[in-house]
Amino acid sequence: GGGSSLTPSTVRFNSIKPNTLDDITVPDGFRWRMVIGWGDPLFRQEERINYQRLREGGTTTQDVEIQKRTFGYNNDFIGVIEHNNRYIMVVNHEYFNPELVFPPEHLGKPTYEEAMLMLEAHGLSVVELFRNSDFTFRPVVGSNYNRRITGSTRCLIEGPAKGHRYVGDSAEGTLNNCSAGKTPWGTVLTCEENFNSYFGGDINSVQETLVREIHQRYGVPSRFADVYGFYKYMDRFDVSKNPYESFKFGWVVEIDPLDPNRPPIKRTALGRFKHEAATCVVAPSGQVVVYMGDDERFQHLYKFVTKGKYDPINRENNMKLLDEGTLYVAKFYDNLTGEWVMLAEVSAGQIRVNPSLPSLYKQDPALVFIDTRGAATSLGATKMDRPEDAEWNPVTQSLWAVMTYNDRRTSPEPANPRPYNYMGHILEIIEQRNDPTATSFSWRIPLLCGIPQHPDPTKELLVYGQRVSTDTPPISAPDNITFDRFGNVWIATDGNEDDVRLRVNDGVYVLDIYERSLKMFLSGPRGCEICGPEFTSDNRTFLCAIQHPGEGGKGSWPHDAVVPRPSVICVVREDGTKI
Ligand code: FEO
Ligand code: CA
Ligand code: CA
Ligand code: CA
Repeated sequence: GGGSSLTPSTVRFNSIKPNTLDDITVPDGFRWRMVIGWGDPLFRQEERINYQRLREGGTTTQDVEIQKRTFGYNNDFIGVIEHNNRYIMVVNHEYFNPELVFPPEHLGKPTYEEAMLMLEAHGLSVVELFRNSDFTFRPVVGSNYNRRITGSTRCLIEGPAKGHRYVGDSAEGTLNNCSAGKTPWGTVLTCEENFNSYFGGDINSVQETLVREIHQRYGVPSRFADVYGFYKYMDRFDVSKNPYESFKFGWVVEIDPLDPNRPPIKRTALGRFKHEAATCVVAPSGQVVVYMGDDERFQHLYKFVTKGKYDPINRENNMKLLDEGTLYVAKFYDNLTGEWVMLAEVSAGQIRVNPSLPSLYKQDPALVFIDTRGAATSLGATKMDRPEDAEWNPVTQSLWAVMTYNDRRTSPEPANPRPYNYMGHILEIIEQRNDPTATSFSWRIPLLCGIPQHPDPTKELLVYGQRVSTDTPPISAPDNITFDRFGNVWIATDGNEDDVRLRVNDGVYVLDIYERSLKMFLSGPRGCEICGPEFTSDNRTFLCAIQHPGEGGKGSWPHDAVVPRPSVICVVREDGTKI
């Protein structure tokens, strides 16, 4: 459709070209501006990380205290909550790059102070933003909304796995918070993804066979444990000393940006896996549906349907909504249909599991929520090509689910159609009657990533199944997405630079769903992935996260310190009109 001279395009900019500059590129007529970066103050203007001291190997306990109170590292998700004419931004701090911050000889053996600083650099930041007259943003240092949640913040545990002997009823910290989602009641569901990275020790010293098996499914312990060193200084991260601690991670965590005193709550009804994101939509029935991906090769796509209904009047009535409902996993069929298979249902504190599950889960029903991977795979859930973001498009009234890539797939299957899927793809899932509570759906693949007219069919870019012109920008490794006011799909990538993909910097692309074309809107600096694409509700400001700039030793953006600084930026039109 669209595209005629009588219908102006809904995507109003000229595509930029992919590049390898150590800087940010945006189209003519646009300008970008830094919002906040790692180590910037949240509470007092004079509190700021001393990058030079960290780089020289002199990290002190004072530095750890400052990191607790300043903007964290590796910003992924960005959510802007518009509340009483204020802009409250929530940003996830997914992981840390010690090789870019501390002396090279400390790599794999951080000091105690370095390990503690890294723990405090994880989690989330909540920061109020001031909107400038040109629609760019800057932080309000000292706002009462500002808050840090870190790897040591006390969290509560709620839902069906609360009180299980593996899990307990509280947790110390939240870790590897990748993407997230906003709820209709103004909270944020932040997602614990590669939580296994922090756990070390000897798996063979774990006595219980089942615990060992579950840990293996989730990659606990991890070969990255030495990078962070947590397990050397804190017994809870050593599986030999505390075999259950990792069960406190891998959850969706609800935080309230409007109340800095409300503790983060791990919502176990939404299952335990390497959670990428959690996207809420209110169904016609008033029930809330949360879509979630488990980002690892051959893992699954899930949804949770609340038992209760969203209350638009009384906010507090929604604060327990995510503790009861039904957890489903997706199964795709080769005739462009699929179904949501029930894993378990929680109601009035009772758990009813799918009768086809192995007896293990029937004897201990809470296990479905703790070992969700094991349960889902046993029901024949489709093994996907690394489910990253899954977002509900309010214009198309359908779910857009991103498969970033899967270089290990040898045999194609319906919804993951390419062997050696180096480039990634995006699925559109159309629920029956466009009702997110439906248990059956149809699907299609609007975007198979790659290079225009590439001779290898596993690497050719196809838009709605069609070949595109050679001036279309190549794209690979799609990760986070969002939608503009017309429903066009804004795609941030994570992996363009790799030799098997495009050898250009990651960026932001726009899939025009009317013209069925692809344009490139932004190119990031070297070494980064782009995350958290987010529009303000008036579509005048676009925000995104520049995560791990300089990774691989390839750059130093934003060139304002002795080390690169992961940062949030915003982009506006120079004439101040809607993007
Ligand atoms: Fe942290 Fe799946 O990206
Ligand atoms: Ca991601
Ligand atoms: Ca990714
Ligand atoms: Ca990354």
